[in-house]
Amino acid sequence: MAQLISTIQAEIAPAGRPVQGVEGLIGNTPLIGFPRLSRELRSGVKVLAKAEWLNPGGSIKDRPALNIIRGAEARGDLRPGMTLLDSTSGNMGIAYAMLGAARGYKVKLVVPANASPERLTILRTYGVDLVLSDPAEGSDGAIRLVRRINADEPGAYYYADQYNNPDNWQAHYKTTAPEIWEQTGGEITHLVVALGTSGTLMGTGRRMREYNPDVRLIALQPDGPFHGLEGLKYMPTAIVPGIYDPNLADEMIDLDTESAHVMCRRLAREEGLLVGVSAAAALVGAFKVASQLDEGVVVTIFPDSATKYMSEHFWTEA
Ligand SMILES: Cc1ncc(COP(=O)(O)O)c(C=O)c1O
Repeated sequence: MAQLISTIQAEIAPAGRPVQGVEGLIGNTPLIGFPRLSRELRSGVKVLAKAEWLNPGGSIKDRPALNIIRGAEARGDLRPGMTLLDSTSGNMGIAYAMLGAARGYKVKLVVPANASPERLTILRTYGVDLVLSDPAEGSDGAIRLVRRINADEPGAYYYADQYNNPDNWQAHYKTTAPEIWEQTGGEITHLVVALGTSGTLMGTGRRMREYNPDVRLIALQPDGPFHGLEGLKYMPTAIVPGIYDPNLADEMIDLDTESAHVMCRRLAREEGLLVGVSAAAALVGAFKVASQLDEGVVVTIFPDSATKYMSEHFWTEA
């Protein structure tokens, strides 16, 4: 634990070697602690979060997008000149768009029409062919529409299908989990992850269990079908992703949107961190777990930063 804390307090990480193109910037994100918020915890308890907004596309989804594209290329499913097709609530789309631009693929995405204006502008800037789905149907409406588009023109696209593609969770098995294991010196005791496609929890959780079967896996989901936790799914009523195994986690915690908004403001004002709503929700969950412990290292994931949500009103409330 002492060594872990001194690592957290190190001044500036070494800059590392030159990288080749945008893909070289993906992964190897820092693990950050919360010196002020953690004062409410017992002294033997540490909460840490993986700063995934530092990926070049601004979110954790750069990892699965890269693994999905590489996997499809290796199998011959994605070839030069083809168009990558998928549905996304935003971050995966940005990752596909960025990597598609860098690798020379066209990208067509179905996105709910109420995705934030910032996201839609980013996607259009990368040159994505955007199809907007019914906002009332959320990410499930986008899934239904992308399936119709793919079925209407067989062979016209590489349908990446992030909800059912094992390359999604395997990205986290190969990268996110080993990084966390190494960064905590194997001291992680709890992994707390919010569910969207569930790729992050499935991949990171499975690998973590292989490192140490005693690591407790805690899944987080919104507390109902209508919520403001962008990127997260309420599994009881959603189209359940094929990659989701409900038996992997030891525990599931339901989170309300208001608590996440409060945490967004606290992180901004007490830690100087502007993070996305699902990241704040993840930290609410991590602190719920940590507050029950006498000692332990609780790790969670911050999928993205606040930049794409700044037009929302909750930032300046209360
Ligand atoms: C902001 C945000 N948070 C959380 C998640 C959930 O990650 P996963 O799909 O790996 O479950 C996503 C996924 O799209 C996301 O965009």
